[in-house]
Amino acid sequence: MPKSYTSSTSSTERVIKKVLKKIVPKPAEKRRLENLASKILELTNKEAIKHKAYAIIAGSLTRDTWLPGKMEFDIFILFPVSVSEEKMEKIGLGIGKSIIKKMRGKHTIEYAEHPYVCGRIKKMHIDIVPCYEIESTDKLKSSVDRTPFHVRYIEKNLPHKFSNDVRLLKQFCGAQSIYGADAKTEGFSGYVCELIIIKYGGFVNVIKAIAGWRPEEIIDIENFYTKDDYPEVRRKFKAQALILIDPTDHNRNTSAAVSHQNFQKLKKAANDFLKSPSERLFFPAKKRPLKLTELKKLQKVRETELIVVKLKPPKTVPDILWPQLRRFASRLESILKENEFYILRKGVYSDEKELAVVLLEMKNCKLPAVRKRIGPSVFDVKGSQNFVKKYKAEASTINGPFIEDGFWVVETKRKFRTAQEKLADSLKDSLKILKAKGVPSYIAEQISKKFKLISDVKKIASLAKKDKEFGVFLRNYFEKESLA
Ligand code: UTP
Ligand code: MN
Ligand code: MN
Repeated sequence: MPKSYTSSTSSTERVIKKVLKKIVPKPAEKRRLENLASKILELTNKEAIKHKAYAIIAGSLTRDTWLPGKMEFDIFILFPVSVSEEKMEKIGLGIGKSIIKKMRGKHTIEYAEHPYVCGRIKKMHIDIVPCYEIESTDKLKSSVDRTPFHVRYIEKNLPHKFSNDVRLLKQFCGAQSIYGADAKTEGFSGYVCELIIIKYGGFVNVIKAIAGWRPEEIIDIENFYTKDDYPEVRRKFKAQALILIDPTDHNRNTSAAVSHQNFQKLKKAANDFLKSPSERLFFPAKKRPLKLTELKKLQKVRETELIVVKLKPPKTVPDILWPQLRRFASRLESILKENEFYILRKGVYSDEKELAVVLLEMKNCKLPAVRKRIGPSVFDVKGSQNFVKKYKAEASTINGPFIEDGFWVVETKRKFRTAQEKLADSLKDSLKILKAKGVPSYIAEQISKKFKLISDVKKIASLAKKDKEFGVFLRNYFEKESLA
């Protein structure tokens, strides 16, 4: 065996050993979680049985793949399909609430596709989720009904010796900020990590496989499809970066949430690990918020102007907030574009409580007083008539209509000279008009109450000083790490 290979193997092992020391829960933590889980399971079942339902433990506790510190487990209550949806929800939530109360914890109602109870007992966090017991996944009514199938599948197919490999993969994803299938993260869920380990075996094998992934990679553990079906499968799961067929449901890409960016992030990290394994890839250095001096320097170098659209986040779940914030940013971009203001790049940030931000980095913020509008070709007689009629009547017309290179042209007085003025005008509309303009509903409500536009770097920097995470967001925005 070549010397370099042996040495890299041993350094890989050394790193993995060190990381495992930090990410395998201590026996005391394990006992505490398991005791509480079986207690709650028992209590839940006592209640559930009265309604012909029963409870199971689901999620990472059942497979011994949770990360320490998370201290979370999941209880699913399975109802027979004969119970109406309304009743199932009502009874399920009722049971969840009463149990958390009995254990002297605090609860909130959270929403995925359906509401569920989220409890906190001491430092432990419990999800109690009502769902249907169905005979097969093609009969499912909502995606939570799949979870009991996941529990059984993982129990049967994930050998216990691989538990810590799953932990390594979860930690590895977490370090790249791509652990979780929620709308904010757009990454890899715990279940996805478990399936990837089942597919390739231990952590190092997984990393080697990931390093060679191509976009539209198909992983079909149960071989539901043959290679001949793959073009069809790719059409079915169009434009998804990773196609990991749910082994409990061949119609489902269980990694549908993974964005192209995050797919590449994982691939890049895997390649980095193979080149030089290090703990840093599991425990990244904490990033500092961007400072005023840095922001000033960046502006000098980039010669772009920034616009921060600041609002208070609406009272809704993160899975609605983030997509709406992103859609809002795209909407702002197109409003500006219609007025010849172009953006270089954009980003969104929120602490999900007090502050939500759309950051627009402008290519141009200021335009001349005159605006040139190019109309139809002279051969388009009807169109030309309309254009000429419109701009002859228009008070803002200062020149023309005249003809340039066979097209009708007019010069008008520009209404908004700066992007900021345009945005301020556009966003001060009523709720109804904001919505009609395509501003997402929750965001529109907030904007119609209050918003702020900030372009002064001093003010942006002081916001970053107040909200450190916003400062870190700014750093990440400007310091794009190479994904290649
Ligand atoms: P959790 O989000 O609690 O994940 O969902 P987990 O597998 O227990 O992992 P960690 O360690 O807490 O992060 C519980 C179960 O709900 C289903 C899966 O079956 C999961 O095991 N689920 C959750 C999904 O199918 N998709 C999701 O996006 C989230
Ligand atoms: Mn969990
Ligand atoms: Mn959970």
